Amino acid sequence: MNKDLSNYRKSYEKSELLENNIPENPLELFQKWFYDIDKHYEVDEANAMSLSTFGLDGYPKIRIVLLKRFTYEGFIFYTNYNSEKGKAIDKNPNVCLNFFWHAAERQIIIKGQAEKIAENLSDGYFESRPVGSQLGSLASDQSEIIKSREALDEKLRKLELQYMNKEIPRPKNWGGYIIKPVEMEFWQGRPNRMHDRIRYRLEEDYNWKIERLQP
Ligand SMILES: Cc1cc2nc3c(=O)[nH]c(=O)nc-3n(C[C@H](O)[C@H](O)[C@H](O)COP(=O)(O)O)c2cc1C
Repeated sequence: MNKDLSNYRKSYEKSELLENNIPENPLELFQKWFYDIDKHYEVDEANAMSLSTFGLDGYPKIRIVLLKRFTYEGFIFYTNYNSEKGKAIDKNPNVCLNFFWHAAERQIIIKGQAEKIAENLSDGYFESRPVGSQLGSLASDQSEIIKSREALDEKLRKLELQYMNKEIPRPKNWGGYIIKPVEMEFWQGRPNRMHDRIRYRLEEDYNWKIERLQP
């Protein structure tokens, strides 16, 4: 318990983020960084992102979810609409996403509003999932208490029998959310803690205002 962390130091030297080299739309920069990470760095699950919500208990909560699609409109992930996060989003759709790609010394913070995506889009994605994952979504009342692991496994076994050789319907309480961004901040680590931080903010005329923040 006595390990001294104060000497953990790392110099960030891999890249830079300068105004003369960035697009007007932050989603384009997101796409550039994402493909760069996917192609040039060995990052496991580069699409893993932290999602923070305001909970009904008044506390913020952060958990990892997987980005499954991004478009010019926003960032899509899938989950159980009745989960703790689903209930939190129902009450307050303002959320924050965070990507940290250590290998590239990059972080992206996205503030935005979560909305359920159209049912047919959730259907399409659900159909594309492996059967095991489909059944898992049916079996889990995500975030509810269950008395044991055995009870959970038993729920899955029953569903496996029930749906053997049958099409598995998407549970109505399972589907996608899209996060429509209002602010995106790109952080590139630099030496001497003089990091680059470029923030895009959506203005009333739907143009993105670009500003540099101090590190
Ligand atoms: C790498 C990783 C990926 C995950 N992907 C998802 C996901 O896409 N959707 C999801 O609902 N939960 C995902 N989870 C589980 C969530 O972190 C969380 O435990 C779950 O959604 C319940 O959260 P809640 O009780 O706050 O609603 C993932 C966890 C990890 C570690």
